[in-house]
Amino acid sequence: MKITKICCIGAGYVGGPTMAVIAQKCPHIQVTVVDLNAERILAWNDENTDNIPIYEPGLDAIVAEARGRNLFFSTEVDKAIDEAQIIFISVNTPTKTYGKGKGMAADLKYIELCARQIAKVSKANKIVVEKSTLPVRTAEAIKSILDTTGNGVQFQILSNPEFLAEGTAVQDLLSPDRILIGGDPSVEGQKAIQALVDVYSNWVSPEKILTTNVWSSELSKLTANAFLAQRISSINAMSELCEKTGADVNEVAKAIGMDSRIGSKFLKASVGFGGSCFQKDILNLVYIAKSYGLNEVADYWEQVIIMNDHQKRRFSNTIVQTLYNTVADKKIAFLGWAFKKDTNDTRESAAIYVANDLVNEQAKIAVYDPKVSRKKILADLDYLETRTAEENANSILTFDDPYLSCEKAHAVAVLTEWDEFVNYDWQKIYDGMQKPAFVFDGRNILDKTKLEKIGFVYQAIGS
Ligand code: UDX
Ligand code: UDX
Ligand code: ADP
Repeated sequence: MKITKICCIGAGYVGGPTMAVIAQKCPHIQVTVVDLNAERILAWNDENTDNIPIYEPGLDAIVAEARGRNLFFSTEVDKAIDEAQIIFISVNTPTKTYGKGKGMAADLKYIELCARQIAKVSKANKIVVEKSTLPVRTAEAIKSILDTTGNGVQFQILSNPEFLAEGTAVQDLLSPDRILIGGDPSVEGQKAIQALVDVYSNWVSPEKILTTNVWSSELSKLTANAFLAQRISSINAMSELCEKTGADVNEVAKAIGMDSRIGSKFLKASVGFGGSCFQKDILNLVYIAKSYGLNEVADYWEQVIIMNDHQKRRFSNTIVQTLYNTVADKKIAFLGWAFKKDTNDTRESAAIYVANDLVNEQAKIAVYDPKVSRKKILADLDYLETRTAEENANSILTFDDPYLSCEKAHAVAVLTEWDEFVNYDWQKIYDGMQKPAFVFDGRNILDKTKLEKIGFVYQAIGS
């Protein structure tokens, strides 16, 4: 089948960048990204590409190149489904906040709605691709919904998980480590796989495109995220031991990373991992393991989350203890709110939990983040439902200028590793702060020797 029209349901952090790159690399394919959220679609269509809803280095240029040529953003979901030969589902699958599996299982209601809509609208055979990270065997559920149309339309379901990391999405999409496509072993299934392989082959070399059965593909995505997160929790566990023993976690990470069996990436000790995927996917894995009665497997992976929660709590406890066991009415400046640098995404960011702990201790938090708005910061805290929105608004100050956020602060805490923080005029920050002036570096990015020379009391993770 020669593919000329693709549609993607969901114009978020995954769907938006992925479709932009497909459109850029495949000018012969018309790519339409649809979303129910009209405000988001409006922003994707903003003439000034600085205003697109997702900040990713390099994405604005790609959108500028392809948009209007063969890349379209629209709220007309039915029309796009009807016209497309391949439909990507890239909607959010948050952890359930109610009912069975609450706090653990993935909430598939958005996926199910998509499947029902596709079933309702489709008049011709289609390939439906799961792009969102999903629990194993979700394809089965999608298929059973799609197969109820009764009008003879045939659907092939593929699993094609996205491995891009936010902040480097464009780079990851342009030169992926691999593309994974899972499909049915039948002849029709293999034809569908080939159609999608042909799309990626426009810019990805064949040896990087893996094809598997659907379940292997779905489980590989959860496994990849679990392994990545596990490395961070492992090094963070060591960071606490380093602090007690006089070892330095950066030195330990370097030493173990040079073992080619271990490798050097993803060994950066931090205030804890965040993002929309790691916690959600591991909880989901734990839930699936438990549902098969595999309690040892479930407990093994759950420990990754327990360690991450501990690391976030430990960071806020250290701040309180160091500031003479009270932060009541003290100003704590937060540099960074996003869950990592080079993104405006804040989902599950460690900053949210650390701020929540410190506000419980009656601190005032003064946040500066180059890409995150006050509205989002307050919404993140309100979502925890720890206190009223008014109380949160009173406890959180936000600034467009990092120096102002640090002015008269008792302590500065680095929550995100934005490059710009390293090169600030730290003497100027010191001069404006209360003394003793404390810095808690939750990302180990600042120069300890330089800061101590200025007069700061500097504390990093794991040394
Ligand atoms: C290990 C470390 O590799 C080495 O660096 C250290 O100096 C001593 O401990 P060793 O125990 O000799 O070395 O062998 P290793 O190759 O690490 O295997 C250990 C066990 O793990 C074996 O039983 C091996 O069969 C098993 N293993 C290894 C697996 O089950 N799966 C693997 O992927 C790798
Ligand atoms: C992750 C996976 O990397 C990606 O393949 C998958 O598709 C989605 O989930 P993402 O969450 O966007 O991507 O970013 P990632 O770079 O993995 O960082 C996740 C969190 O771990 C961030 O909070 C980051 O700061 C933290 N982290 C990462 C560390 O604390 N230490 C590290 O060494 C690496
Ligand atoms: P991700 O990080 O997985 O891309 P996002 O939350 O950024 O997640 O994006 C998911 C998008 O999917 C949101 O913009 C949401 O409005 C959209 N969405 C959810 N359900 C539907 C649906 N049934 N039809 C169209 N869009 C949907």
